[in-house]
Parts: sequence; structure tokens; C-alpha cells
Amino acid sequence: MTDASPPGRPKGEHRKPQAGGSCEAAGFSGRVVRWQRTHGRNELPWQNTRDPYRVWLSEIMLQQTQVAAVLGYYERFLARFPDVSALAAAPLDDVLAAWSGLGYYSRARNLHRCAQEVVGRHGGSFPRTALELQSLPGIGPSTAAAISSFCFGERAAILDGNVKRVLTRVLGFGEDLSAGANERALWDHARALLPARELHENMPRYTQGLMDLGATVCLPRNPSCLICPVQPQCVAAREGRPEAYPVKTRKLQRSAESLWLLHAHSGDGAVWLQKRPTPGVWAGLYCLPVFASRDALEEVLPPASRRKLRDVEPFVHVLTHKDLHLHPVEAVLSPDWQAGEGAWFASKEWPALGLPAPVRRFLENA
Ligand code: ADE
Ligand code: SF4
Repeated sequence: MTDASPPGRPKGEHRKPQAGGSCEAAGFSGRVVRWQRTHGRNELPWQNTRDPYRVWLSEIMLQQTQVAAVLGYYERFLARFPDVSALAAAPLDDVLAAWSGLGYYSRARNLHRCAQEVVGRHGGSFPRTALELQSLPGIGPSTAAAISSFCFGERAAILDGNVKRVLTRVLGFGEDLSAGANERALWDHARALLPARELHENMPRYTQGLMDLGATVCLPRNPSCLICPVQPQCVAAREGRPEAYPVKTRKLQRSAESLWLLHAHSGDGAVWLQKRPTPGVWAGLYCLPVFASRDALEEVLPPASRRKLRDVEPFVHVLTHKDLHLHPVEAVLSPDWQAGEGAWFASKEWPALGLPAPVRRFLENA
């Protein structure tokens, strides 16, 4: 890997990772730890605790959601499910309802399954190593390392998107991260850079410091190298081209799909909702009935009502791999109308259900 340097970088600049405790690694982790103490984020509600339930919940929420959006959800979720047994014992529908609006609902389903495994297989206590944590639903290698380093001071490396950016820049790591072998090499570097001493104190600070650097200093565009604590060791800054890292060539294949949503209501606020099948988009959430075409939507309606449908302005909902073009069609129906699996929910009932965020917004504004 040392031979395949990108153009413009002196050969041999990034070396094979060394065993922990090398001079350079100690310099790096020390800088991150000292900077975190004075310039990092230290007052977030999931900090200043070593309770794995609270740390785990925050890490799952933060996987695909910004800190600012997580704050309110986190406190409400903890008030509703104060510990892992409360969460494990709750119906999945209640968990999805509390998650409603955060998106990526597989996180909520895995959260529930994970809580049940912690109770069922681990006697209600989270395991203490990243290796064991990784075997639980919804916990990948980076999240496992975050939890074990925050709660138990384990010497385990995180490597989420932000940290990949920081480390590839510091190391001048120009290999393509779309290739598994290069990604594994970066994991080796990440482990070699970990603190080697006073782990109980240093590991949580170091882990949080890397996250904070990525979120506040080493930004994707225009990173603040002038105020960066690791700038003296940073290859990308020395080259004057931090934005050249990380290298990732494989493009995400995006697609688009049109769906028609039947907004059947009774005129007095009641709405017909169906539970979405698993697996699939919005699995387990309550949703307006979804159809692949407008004709298919009309087929479930009484003939007399088909002439009185109202087409509502379509809107786009962006998923990870797909743009959904949603076309709502409004029908006023008598409350004895039924179609397949589903039920009428009164105006006081449906807001408490787990609904996909775009459907909730649509219903609130309808
Ligand atoms: N993103 C992921 N984990 C985080 C944490 N512990 N603090 C802030 N942002 C995060
Ligand atoms: Fe990122 Fe610049 Fe700091 Fe290097 S010096 S880690 S590129 S902010």
C-alpha cells in the first residue's frame, strides 16, 4: 500500500501501522485528548455517564442523525424507556412511535431486539467488550468500540465517516476506501493510533475527541487546519490539500420510484392506515395505503367514490438509495369502508402511532 501513493505526495509518507505506543501515535492521541478536554463537546446529555444503556441509545440515535435533532428525542425516549428492561418489555409499536420522525426505522427495530437480547442472553447487563457488543443487533464495529471505550475504557478503535476523514488526512492515506482491503488497512492504522496508557481516563476522551474534531474542525469542505490540534502531524495539511482525502470512487447507485398514497378519511378526522410489511420501506410503521400506480389505488375504492378523488401535489422523500415520489390521492369515505389489512384511526389516535415522518407531515397539513 505504501507504493500506491497518490500523485503529489512523497513516497513512503504513510507507513505501515506500528504497534500501539509508538512515538508518533502517542503524540497524536495526546494531542487529541488534551484538545478534547478544553475544546471538545463535554456537556451533551449522553456524556459524563458510563451507563452503557444511555451511551448505546445515544450512539444508535447519532448514527444517521445530527446532534441537534437527537437532543429532544433522547430525553423523551429515556423518560419513556428508562432502562434496558423497560425497553425490552415494551411492545415494538411503542418503540417505533417514540422513534417516529428520527428516520431509518431499522435502527428502532434493532434497538428493541438488542434490548431483548441484553435481557435474555446477558442477564440485563451490556457486555463490556467491543467484540461481544458487535454481536448484538444494530451494533457495528465502530458503534461497539464507541460504547466499550466510553463506558469501560477499552482500547478499541472507532471508524465512522467523520473519523475516516480525519485519519485519512492526518495519515495522507490516499487509497480508495471502496476497496475492502484499503478499508481494513485504515482500521489497522486507527488501532495503532490509540492511546496506550491510562485507558480508563484517556479512551473516552480520545474517542470523543476524534468525533469532535471531525464534527467541528476537520470538516468535509474548508477544514480549520489553522486551529487544529493535530495539524503539526497532518500530512494532508502539509501537502496543502486536505480535501483530497478520503478517496472513495464507488458511487452510490441512486434510483427513483413513484408511489401513490391513498388518503382515505371519513370527513371527521378519522384516517385509514395500514401497517407496512417487513422487510421494506417503513417496515412496521403505520402508513397510508401505498400503491404502485394510480389505477391500482382506484381499484380498492367503491366505484361511486372514484369520480370524487382529489389529486394532491406530489412530494419527494429522499431515502438512502432512492428518491420516493409520493402522490397522495384524497378520498372521503364512509367509516364502514374497509380494504385489506388496516383500520380507521380517529383524529385523537393516529398522531400517537409510529408513522413515517413524511406521512406524518402530510397528515398534519392535510
Ligand atoms: N456522533 C456519534 N457519536 C457521538 C457522540 N458521542 N457525541 C457527538 N456526536 C456523536
Ligand atoms: Fe483535518 Fe486540517 Fe486538522 Fe489535518 S490539520 S486533521 S486536514 S483539520
